[in-house]
Formats: sequence, structure tokens, C-alpha cells
Amino acid sequence: MNEQVDEPRDARRVFFALWPDDKTRSALRFATQRAVQASGGRPIAKANLHLTVAFLGELSAERLAVARAVPPIKVGEFEITLDALGVWPESKILWLAPMAPPAALGELEAQLWDGLTERGFGAEDRIYRPHVTLARRSRAIEEGVVPVRWPVRELALVESVPYGKNVHYEVLQTWPL
Ligand code: 2AM
Repeated sequence: MNEQVDEPRDARRVFFALWPDDKTRSALRFATQRAVQASGGRPIAKANLHLTVAFLGELSAERLAVARAVPPIKVGEFEITLDALGVWPESKILWLAPMAPPAALGELEAQLWDGLTERGFGAEDRIYRPHVTLARRSRAIEEGVVPVRWPVRELALVESVPYGKNVHYEVLQTWPL
């Protein structure tokens, strides 16, 4: 028999993201827990909080290897101040975002998509709205937020692994900025 024990899944849902360190993760949760409660939405687990830079969707192992070859992207380390909270009425997502996204984040997203499109990945048509999703199925809120400062040092490639009705995020690789 020629059975592989650790057989790779053929379609893997992946995305490039900023993955907070433990201190930032705790600060994100602490600063937003009241808003999450007030929204009545389904909270995102603390361990899953992140900011997506480029969403790739379901990829074969082969395409995943191609995407993985795009970084590093050397925009330098930067800081994001997350100081805006809101709910998008269409998606009912409660989000935390930078009122003024740093130029380096825009640069990172643009360079990443340049590399990806060169390799045949389709860029999103819609405008990039960097945000951390805090809860789903939320209703509008009035809460403000004490700004969270997030020092960003690396880019991560993350896989979304479903389990039951939930999802677990696994960092596949990181690259220093
Ligand atoms: P969301 O939280 O705003 O839904 C894993 O699903 C990550 O990829 C989440 O940050 C999610 O954003 C984002 N994501 C899912 N589908 C996407 C899409 N079609 N375009 C951009 N980002 C997407």
C-alpha cells in the first residue's frame, strides 16, 4: 500500500494577514469587549483576531507554493493605530480599523498583489478596507474605543481550518518586514 499518513488537503483556504503578538492580541480584546457585547454579535475568538492584507481563497497545494514564494516584502516595520469602530450594515461585521491607515500598510498590500497578479492570482476588485473583525451578526453600536497601537513586524500566511461550525487559524509562515 502506498498510503500517505499526513496527506495534504487539496484545497486550502488561505490569506496573507497581520497576526498580532500576544500583547497586542490582549489589548485588542480588552479595548473592544464592551463594544462586542453591545453589538449582540457572535464574537471572534481572541486567538483568531487578525487583519487580512490579501485574501486568496481556496488554493491547491501547487498554487499555495506559488503564493508562498511572493514574500518577503520589505516595507519596513510600522505601527497601526486602531481607533475606529463600526458595523457594516451589509455584512453585519463589527470591526476595528485605523482611521488613518499607515502608508506602509498600503505599500505592503500593493506590493503583495503586484507579486500575486504576476503569478496569475486575481486581485480583488473592491477597495481594500483594512480591519480587524471583532464579531459577526452584529447590530449598530454607539461605543467608541480607546485606541490600540499595534507594532507590526512581520507578514503572515494563514490557513483557515474549519472545525465544526467554527474555524481555527493556523499560521503557516511569517516573513519579517
Ligand atoms: P472578514 O473578517 O471581514 O470577513 C479569513 O476569512 C479572513 O479573510 C477574514 O479576515 C475575512 O474578512 C477575510 N476574507 C474572507 N473572504 C474574503 C474576501 N472575499 N475578500 C477579502 N477578504 C476576505
